Amino acid sequence: MNTKQNVVLITGGSSGIGLALAKKFSSEENKVIIVSRSEQKLASVKAQFPQIITEAADITEEYSIAKLVAKYKDVNILVNNAGVHHECSFRNGIEDFSLLRNEIDTNFVAPVMLAEKFIPELFAKKKTRLLSIFHPTLASVPNRVFLCILQLRLQCVPFQNHSECSLEVHPLRCSILCLPLSKPP
Ligand SMILES: NC(=O)c1ccc[n+]([C@@H]2O[C@H](COP(=O)([O-])OP(=O)(O)OC[C@H]3O[C@@H](n4cnc5c(N)ncnc54)[C@H](OP(=O)(O)O)[C@@H]3O)[C@@H](O)[C@H]2O)c1
Repeated sequence: MNTKQNVVLITGGSSGIGLALAKKFSSEENKVIIVSRSEQKLASVKAQFPQIITEAADITEEYSIAKLVAKYKDVNILVNNAGVHHECSFRNGIEDFSLLRNEIDTNFVAPVMLAEKFIPELFAKKKTRLLSIFHPTLASVPNRVFLCILQLRLQCVPFQNHSECSLEVHPLRCSILCLPLSKPP
């Protein structure tokens, strides 16, 4: 992957892995846009890294995704990184199913919607990449379903190694990473 002169949009770029990626891309001559809900977190990143473009948006909302796609047509690398993990256990009984819905909407539905909306823009460019990071505890399901959706929509066959599923349709390369947990769940 060419790591310079890209336009990279990173969901969940205001903290953790997303912020680390934003800093790295930004330090290597790329235009970087980060997306997260909290204006406070975005302002704090902006204060430290004024070159990073910040966008306050909730990626579970369809209209927010439409606005991002319309505003950033020059994106050639999309990093689906935003994710949430709510503490709810089937053993103790789940009182609030909205938490579970939010987890599925954020960690799975949003990356699918973002891919669907950005792919036509990505195809219009020469070298493009779609990177999706899934939580390891959920990975076996979203990994495969996400890949099946892409495979169906793009009519191509994915290949897989131990930590990364990839799918390549010229000029687009899609990678799905399943990172190990940094601390036990
Ligand atoms: N940490 C780990 O051990 C680990 C391991 C493997 C995979 N992962 C995966 O890697 C990704 C990043 O993990 P992390 O630990 O770096 O997470 P993190 O520090 O908790 O950051 C999550 C980011 O997602 C944003 N976000 C959450 N919901 C959002 C929404 N609806 N719309 C827009 N932005 C939203 C958050 O910002 P706001 O709150 O401001 O929206 C924040 O910037 C996640 O998908 C996670 O599942 C993490």
